[in-house]
Amino acid sequence: MRAIRPLARIAKGLDAGKDVANWRLRQAVTGRYSLSRKPAGFTLLAKRENIMTDQMQHITLAGRPTGAPGPEHFKLETKDVPTPGAGEILVRVHYMSLDPYMRGRMDDGKSYAAPVPIGGTMEGGSVGEVIASNSDHFKAGDFAFGPFGWATHAVADEKMCRKVDPANGPITASLGVLGMPGFTGWYGLMEYGRPKAGETLVVAAATGPVGSMVGQVAKSLGLKTVGIAGGADKCKMAVEVFGFDACIDHRAYEDARSLRAALKEACGGGIDIYFENVGGKVLEAVMPLMKPHGRIPICGMISWYNAGGLGAGAAAQMAAPQIWRPILVNFLSVNGFIISNHWGDFPKFLAEIGPKVSSGDIKVVEDIAQGLENAPSAFMGLLTGKNVGKQIVKLI
Ligand SMILES: NC(=O)c1ccc[n+]([C@@H]2O[C@H](COP(=O)([O-])OP(=O)(O)OC[C@H]3O[C@@H](n4cnc5c(N)ncnc54)[C@H](OP(=O)(O)O)[C@@H]3O)[C@@H](O)[C@H]2O)c1
Repeated sequence: MRAIRPLARIAKGLDAGKDVANWRLRQAVTGRYSLSRKPAGFTLLAKRENIMTDQMQHITLAGRPTGAPGPEHFKLETKDVPTPGAGEILVRVHYMSLDPYMRGRMDDGKSYAAPVPIGGTMEGGSVGEVIASNSDHFKAGDFAFGPFGWATHAVADEKMCRKVDPANGPITASLGVLGMPGFTGWYGLMEYGRPKAGETLVVAAATGPVGSMVGQVAKSLGLKTVGIAGGADKCKMAVEVFGFDACIDHRAYEDARSLRAALKEACGGGIDIYFENVGGKVLEAVMPLMKPHGRIPICGMISWYNAGGLGAGAAAQMAAPQIWRPILVNFLSVNGFIISNHWGDFPKFLAEIGPKVSSGDIKVVEDIAQGLENAPSAFMGLLTGKNVGKQIVKLI
């Protein structure tokens, strides 16, 4: 693949007249918007000293939060580097992904996946270099994506990992645009959104890896795309970088009613597809605007993740009739999905979207925190919208 992200175009779009260096400088000054700009194959040039070590660090779950997680719920610990068994690889992690689903793993309520036990390593996908291998598929020096958790090193079964070729572009793509979140946006839109040219789509968390994929794919198929994002800067990014026709700042509207009025104006005749990422006020604003035979892929509901989990005790204000009635009278199709049930379609996704990332038709924005010790604060920020683009933590 060619350079994975068209930096010049991103920079121009956001700050017309300023050059790429200015954009980088602004990132450095603010400490945010870390668009990693590495040429293809950069990881092969990385320093290779200190690859072997006896000790590793990891972040464990120190307690279960009620409401928003705080620093007290995480603990940075040191332990011996594990030894890979038969069919396993030992990986030194370069970049780890932070994702909203991790908040659910901190609760012990019934869910589609088991919770992280107290004292257990926080779960997550990461990408790194194989430094020891008992696998026929991976050799030392390969790069692998796998369930390595919030840790500097990890051992994993080869069957749980996939190879990542640094020659194809920055390896961080395997965590976002060409990884689980990008796949989620593409799959949910195509399978359950059933997009048609001329229709109108709304998606919130529009600048995140799921929402930006949904918006860009929908736009490329001829839909009108209306994003919802938190703050003027993110809305500008949604339109100027990700090509949304319009973007509405949900934080600028106190209640669902006023947000709905703004959405109604932006959408014109109503909404055909609402790709559900957030729930809460946005969902409440959207429902009366759904058109007959509209579709709602339910991907996530992040506005409620800190509100007592998703079951009993959730602080949702919305009344059931307000949700059910529009579904009934507008004959809506509402489909929940969990992407881990659909990995069989991942190769199809890579074949279709990989070239578009390479060509720059699909834009990528990453927000890269530095150091494992900063993973908890970056994660807490993700849950409240402080991230701009795919949240990643750089370990090396
Ligand atoms: N079903 C699946 O298998 C699956 C897989 C992956 C992801 N997901 C879900 O997809 C959604 C997006 O994931 P992502 O990785 O792309 O996350 P993301 O956009 O990188 O980060 C989450 C974003 O949610 C927004 N947000 C937080 N609280 C909000 C609130 N109260 N109201 C409205 N927006 C709020 C924030 O954006 P703003 O600042 O713009 O509001 C925040 O940046 C999440 O709900 C996630 O759980 C589901």
